[in-house]
Amino acid sequence: MKTSFEIRRESTKMGFEQSSIRKIYRQWAKTYEWLTPIYLLGNEAKLRQKAIRAINLQPNQSVLDLACGTGRNFPLILDQIGPQGRLIGVDYTPEMLIQVREKVSRHQWSNIQLIQGDAANLQLEYQFDAILCTLAMSVIPNYERALERMLAHLKPGGWISISDAQLSSRWYVRPFNWIGNLMGWSAAADISRTPWKRLSTLVENSSYQELFFGFFYIASGQKAGF
Ligand SMILES: C[S@@+](CC[C@H](N)C(=O)[O-])C[C@H]1O[C@@H](n2cnc3c(N)ncnc32)[C@H](O)[C@@H]1O
Repeated sequence: MKTSFEIRRESTKMGFEQSSIRKIYRQWAKTYEWLTPIYLLGNEAKLRQKAIRAINLQPNQSVLDLACGTGRNFPLILDQIGPQGRLIGVDYTPEMLIQVREKVSRHQWSNIQLIQGDAANLQLEYQFDAILCTLAMSVIPNYERALERMLAHLKPGGWISISDAQLSSRWYVRPFNWIGNLMGWSAAADISRTPWKRLSTLVENSSYQELFFGFFYIASGQKAGF
């Protein structure tokens, strides 16, 4: 039988339960578009640009945006892959998908497909040239499994990037980590996770960059076998 300490440690590691996450993002769906820039303290554009630059997109490629939310990466991705490229957005929360569906139809983007599903159980029939996941590795309960599923859906030689908020390891800002924790907690995010460490062991040509005193990271790499 597990001790209460073990149970507590496990639940911290797993973060929020999926049902609570769904409830939080159901409430946030309509305000996500204007709340996100505030939450990211002026770093949103840079974070997204770097995450997308890291996957080396080319015209006509296929891209998976995992836990796509309201599709805030979509314009940047479409700029790179063009109208002949193919973009698939997957998210668990139906209310977030309602928002992104409206956005897709408003912009008349015709090369986007949206799918409701759990990143940790991702099972699509095709592989992608590139896959990214922004601001969600800290949220997805079984993020380690989600990382494995991302790699399984990547073509050999394809690029993957994950980027998110994290606790800073820089001594001079560490006293402010509690603010990051608090903001993360309100967004159902466990920002103590470091999935980039695992990613670097699974890919080739891995890279890691930080933003804003180390409170954000962008990690990327290329699937072996090309
Ligand atoms: C902070 S938002 C990030 C959204 C988007 N990637 C962005 O950069 O704006 C986290 C997203 O993760 C989604 N999510 C949570 N658990 C998930 C899961 N198991 N599978 C897929 N998406 C999930 C939520 O619905 C929410 O849209």
